[in-house]
Amino acid sequence: MNDIFRKIDEHNKKHQVSHWEGTFRDYLPLVLEQPPLAQLAHARIYDMIRSYGVELDDQGHERFHFFARELFGIDEALAKVVEYLKAAAMGSEVGKRILMLYGPPSSGKSQLVILLKRGLEAYTQTEAGAVYAIADCPQHENPLHLIPHPLRQDLLETYGIHIEGELCPMCALHLRQTYDHDIYRVPVERIVFSEKDRTGIGTFVPSDPKSQDISELVGSLDLATVGAYGSESDPRAYRFDGELNIANRGMIEFIEMLKADERFLYILLTLTQEKNIKTGRFSLIYADEFVIAHTNEAEFKEFLADKKSEALQDRMIMVQMPYNLKASAEVQIYEKLLKRANLGQLHVAPHTLAVAAMFAVLSRLEEPKLAGLTLVKKMRLYDGQEVEGFRHKDIKLIKAQTEREGMDGISPRFVINRISSSLIRPNTRCINPIDVLRALKDGFETHGAFKREDREKFDHLIADVRREYDEIARTDVQKAFFVSFEHEALTLLDNYLDHVEAYLDDKKLVDPVTEEEREPDEKLMRSIEEKVKVPESGKDAFRNEIFRKVAMAQRRGDRFDYTTHDKLKEAIEKQLFEERRDTIKLTVSTRNPDPDQLRKLNDVVDTLVRKEAYCAECANELLKYVSSLLAREK
Ligand SMILES: Nc1ncnc2c1ncn2[C@@H]1O[C@H](COP(=O)(O)OP(=O)(O)OP(=O)(O)O)[C@@H](O)[C@H]1O
Ligand SMILES: [Mg+2]
Ligand SMILES: [Zn+2]
Ligand SMILES: [Zn+2]
Repeated sequence: MNDIFRKIDEHNKKHQVSHWEGTFRDYLPLVLEQPPLAQLAHARIYDMIRSYGVELDDQGHERFHFFARELFGIDEALAKVVEYLKAAAMGSEVGKRILMLYGPPSSGKSQLVILLKRGLEAYTQTEAGAVYAIADCPQHENPLHLIPHPLRQDLLETYGIHIEGELCPMCALHLRQTYDHDIYRVPVERIVFSEKDRTGIGTFVPSDPKSQDISELVGSLDLATVGAYGSESDPRAYRFDGELNIANRGMIEFIEMLKADERFLYILLTLTQEKNIKTGRFSLIYADEFVIAHTNEAEFKEFLADKKSEALQDRMIMVQMPYNLKASAEVQIYEKLLKRANLGQLHVAPHTLAVAAMFAVLSRLEEPKLAGLTLVKKMRLYDGQEVEGFRHKDIKLIKAQTEREGMDGISPRFVINRISSSLIRPNTRCINPIDVLRALKDGFETHGAFKREDREKFDHLIADVRREYDEIARTDVQKAFFVSFEHEALTLLDNYLDHVEAYLDDKKLVDPVTEEEREPDEKLMRSIEEKVKVPESGKDAFRNEIFRKVAMAQRRGDRFDYTTHDKLKEAIEKQLFEERRDTIKLTVSTRNPDPDQLRKLNDVVDTLVRKEAYCAECANELLKYVSSLLAREK
């Protein structure tokens, strides 16, 4: 319990923004000492992302920790977004364009924007991300706008502080009337961005294009006060409360941008291009904000095909957000979403999410063009696994041979919906991979959106995944049996090592009982080595390597632990499974187990529960499933 109190205290401390209020006279020294305070929107967001840490992956690509907790497997798209922000932060023309995300449904577009918004809010609460604003400005504008033009060059040369933008009509009026042209007297305060409080972060959702009013973007005349000020061009008679006004210095999200009426798009264009908002009767109002929009692919294509929209197209940076194509990252997505779903007592059997993920990723992959590369192999390769006959270097070529990979297929949301639907069936306490494959199949058979050829393709993929799962299920059962085989494994290992030693020393083995001399058993050694694909030409190297390890352990006075050698471990286990296959088969398949078999079965279930995160229910299901598999083999 103390733990949560400590965490809340820490949180409070971190987010207790030191309140600051003063005049522009007080503020100026702050900026001069800390020029990042003068930063513009894109630069602030870029710094915010970097502040979480960056790491280089083995190909030298930057990976940003900021995204890592919520977004999985789409590093390329994320890198493009960051690249845009970086260029914009450095003042390049890129910043004058709208960032447009497009991709299939549920590919994480909204999630990405939400992350940026929440990240930016939190960042403005830290010292590094502090933002100061003119206190009585409806657009919380940059106090440096008070600096008259002739002095700006000086500030740039002496302090490296670049200022762009003019006071908004309201601030200009206040300066004249309230502060008597004395910029020193203008009040400044530290602000915190908050979408909820409509500060620094805006969102625009298109509704009916005909009736939606542009005041949602740029504010409107305040009819109640216009009489009091006598003129529509008095800023006091205007409400600067459009999404673009409030998002000044931060960011604005444009949801389903291409659904919006053209009038809105052109306002956006001026904003990004000229950094101006055309509002009411006023001359243009300076605004500094990061515009991020998203759309689905169908609308995006229509837009691209439309000649009339060319001007707009030129002013956008398009970032494709395809689905994730890594099976292991897909599992992370499901884990994240299921955690939110609060499953209570329900158990999700091992490999359940992995199996769903394989299916989802396979549905998104294009048929490989390289000879010998199957769809399943491609999936493994993308996921960083070893695949016979291909190397990681090949991924580049494989990807170059695709057209729109990741833009079609099954979405994470579809999978999660199917998993949920199988979880809420009455009397369900646990779901396993077979349940999920069935639920997926039911899903695309009843789901109207899939064409017949899609359904046929998915059927085949389900069968592929099922074969993958069969192998996994079998291995789990064998491994569980293995615990009771452990001492047999050691005997087998000793035996193998004896033969290897004799072989390497070119000696004969002496039978400890009969004292007869024998040649090393080449057949036994090869049988083990072939389990992990050691070729005939590589056997000497393999044996030498193993033996060096054994000798090293002996010198330290240890016994060689074969489990530290992955390949040898796998080889020994596989060999043993092969030798014991009939025992396993007999034990799991028998209808009336004898007491000895029963004990063994209980042991196996027990091991599955203790070591592999099965519950009793799915462990028993697994045994049943594997027994049916084994029964089908001859
Ligand atoms: N690569 C990913 N990593 C983590 N979560 C993801 C990923 N892709 C999708 N999701 C999750 O799937 C769900 C749907 O994603 P989101 O709503 O962001 O999609 P979208 O691209 O905005 O879709 P739409 O076009 O339907 O609005 C979210 O909960 C999101 O977190
Ligand atoms: Mg969305
Ligand atoms: Zn202002
Ligand atoms: Zn279970």
